[in-house]
Amino acid sequence: MSRTPIIAGNWKMFKTVSEAQNFFAEVKGKAEVEGVESVICAPYTNLPALVEAARGTSIAIGAQNVHFEDNGAYTGEISGGMLKELGVKYVIIGHSERRAYFAETDEIVNKKVHAAFRHGLTPIVCVGEKLEEREAGETKEVCKTQTEAAFEGLSQEQAAAVVIAYEPIWAIGTGKSSTSEDAQDVIGYIRGIVAGLYDEATANAVRIQYGGSVKPNNVAEYMGQADIDGALVGGASLEPASYIALIEGA
Ligand code: G3P
Repeated sequence: MSRTPIIAGNWKMFKTVSEAQNFFAEVKGKAEVEGVESVICAPYTNLPALVEAARGTSIAIGAQNVHFEDNGAYTGEISGGMLKELGVKYVIIGHSERRAYFAETDEIVNKKVHAAFRHGLTPIVCVGEKLEEREAGETKEVCKTQTEAAFEGLSQEQAAAVVIAYEPIWAIGTGKSSTSEDAQDVIGYIRGIVAGLYDEATANAVRIQYGGSVKPNNVAEYMGQADIDGALVGGASLEPASYIALIEGA
């Protein structure tokens, strides 16, 4: 079973529109390697300019969040339909920063995954344990709970299209990355969870990324593991040269 590797940059709350345009002008034609999917998940305000700039390239543009309702009195929120009409393809859902600072529960994450599919967006669903959970030996249990909740009610076809990002929280922005063997162990386990919920074929179709201090110099090591299909990258996706090197490294 061959899965297309997917490297996604998560810019978080960085870059104005002009900064995003300058970035894109530098990576265009370079962060495009055959056989690797390249995605930039940017703040909402950058999305129209980035979708426009990415036209005719193989780089896909993603959002970092979406509301679970299709419309309504939700001041400050953005719906899946709004993203879809812009030409956005991916949306990060359940990032640990959203779970921690914006009270996103497993139930909300699941509703957002359904909202993404209603509007033809591909969800990148983040799961991962806190440091204290890792130290208590609860890593797999946490990932199991989060994965099962995120997939609740998805058809087999939808499940196969999900991208999961395993991001151990203690490795995010800390420079402390999980070893590739440890990441493989957890990611292989997560794939097994999907097999249990659906079947082997569905589990083998799902792409699972590792995230947490991925850099150009360690991306290949992660990608060399059997179940790791890509990376969700924060800090190292912000500089054009580094982003290009990540895509080349994959
Ligand atoms: O979503 C990506 C992220 O949380 C990892 O951030 O800066 O450790 O690559 P970073």
